[in-house]
Amino acid sequence: MKLPRLLSAVLAVCLIFAPGANARTAPAVEAPIIDFGSRFLPVVARQGMVVGPERLAAEIGLGILEQGGNAVDAAVATGFALAVSYPRAGNLAGGGFMLVHLAEGNRQTLIDYRETAPASAGRDLFLNEAGEVDRERTYFSHQAAGVPGTVAGLVLAQARYGTLPLKQVMAPAIALAEDGLQVSFALNLEINSRAERLALNPEARKLFLTPEGEAPEVGATWRQPELAWTLRQIAEQGHKGFYQGEVAARLVAEMEAGNGLITAADLAGYQALEREPVRGSFQGAEIVSTPPPSSGGVHIIQMLNMLEGFDLAAMGHNSAAYIHHLAEAMKLAYADRSKYLADSDFEPVPVAKLIGKDYAARQRNLIDPARATPATEIAPGRVLVDESHDTTHYTVADRFGNVVSNTYTLNFSFGSHIAVPGTGMLLNNEMADFAANPGQPNAYGLVESDANRIEGGKRPLSSMSPTMVFRDGKPWLATGSPGGSLIITAVLQTVLNATVFDMNIATAAAEARVHHQWQPDKLVVEQGISPDTLQLLQAMGHNVDVAPRTLGRTQSIMLERGYLLGATDTRRLGGHVAAY
Ligand code: DON
Repeated sequence: MKLPRLLSAVLAVCLIFAPGANARTAPAVEAPIIDFGSRFLPVVARQGMVVGPERLAAEIGLGILEQGGNAVDAAVATGFALAVSYPRAGNLAGGGFMLVHLAEGNRQTLIDYRETAPASAGRDLFLNEAGEVDRERTYFSHQAAGVPGTVAGLVLAQARYGTLPLKQVMAPAIALAEDGLQVSFALNLEINSRAERLALNPEARKLFLTPEGEAPEVGATWRQPELAWTLRQIAEQGHKGFYQGEVAARLVAEMEAGNGLITAADLAGYQALEREPVRGSFQGAEIVSTPPPSSGGVHIIQMLNMLEGFDLAAMGHNSAAYIHHLAEAMKLAYADRSKYLADSDFEPVPVAKLIGKDYAARQRNLIDPARATPATEIAPGRVLVDESHDTTHYTVADRFGNVVSNTYTLNFSFGSHIAVPGTGMLLNNEMADFAANPGQPNAYGLVESDANRIEGGKRPLSSMSPTMVFRDGKPWLATGSPGGSLIITAVLQTVLNATVFDMNIATAAAEARVHHQWQPDKLVVEQGISPDTLQLLQAMGHNVDVAPRTLGRTQSIMLERGYLLGATDTRRLGGHVAAY
């Protein structure tokens, strides 16, 4: 059953924008903006909006919009600010992907600032003498760090598409680090939940914990002078201020002290890359998303293509039939991920085939409408014809029509939990996203092939999926999520909720999600799906697992006839929609 889309704010709109006009006599407004029939409503604004995981950084982004900056300026300001206010995932020494829609020229571009493997890293880096993956070293050592991409990415985005000086855009983040911020309940909780591990590294302990080994108290002022210094090097010298000179020297010194692999040459050689996004279509809308070295966009489009052939609306949202079809499409896509996806600059990734409608039609035929196909019966498809745990997302829209969707990360919450002395920054543990031992599950349970083996200079395969949906050639929805392997399915369901079920963006974010990644063969569901539905799914053969935790955390903006509708996912604390 289709929910009525965007009911009834005609009256409110008339009263606000035509004072004195009577709603009866006012000219008919083509359709209402807000669906007051929904239990979840977005924040509505007209001029600019930043939706992100933390309030101070979102407000900093908004401040840049109010100073006349565009969405890219604001996204860069927010990115640097999150490195200060949201240390579990905001970062300088991590990496990510920024999808940008430019009103001028009505075009999109993707800035890939994923980390690269240090030149000396080789296939067996994380194997011990018995040939097994040394998990501790893969996740929590200096060797876990890839060459950081965040600063290169943000500076490149700003230089090419921003309008304000970098110094102006970075000033609020520097002030936040220098003057300090009031510790929120969420920040206190985030640090405390990782306190034990942070305490193992003397520098991280000094930065994040009190002498008693705890997070700074709620309400305390927390200053980060060393991080302010690092930010200032970047504000004054741009890319060079991080990848050469004193910041780079401090990072390399820490690598040498800790048996890490990143050299001065690795840093000097790092480049963020501008790539063409991947594109698909779904029920008349255009989908624009993240290409390799992320797997996200390819599989979102692939699953949408498969699902387009079913009458999902008739099945009903989160009905057993609907969840069954989602799960089957997810399994097929993740099976392909395990074989084909990797850094396409190093390995031939058959992107065009994977996102093709023909291939989806073949895959769709493998879906039995009544029975779950066991993962063991699903192999990665034959694509070549002649073949042979914290990330964060934020979304920005400005009054000029530009939109930015950005996901970046240290990989785990607080990355490797190792900080670089004198810089205030944590090292990522993104090297764990390579297949340390191809065929064996990684930290997210994902199985990957030799194509994602470790090689110097290569980017580890990611699931980060900043995504936009266009209607009639105009941006309509921008979203993304953290969650490792959960990212792709969280974004998929947000898109389906909005397109197939006409949900407003707050409802699309709030509805219970499900996840299947082929292996392990489990259909993970959030709390909130009815027990009857779960029984039906079990009867079809699904191994249903009600997740003790939630799946993903989207930050989204929908653009409807000149209005910005924002929704921060309520699954975690502290998210914020800053708007004017
Ligand atoms: O690039 C990736 O896919 C992972 N490094 C993302 C990690 C992540 O989302 C953890 N978040 N909860």
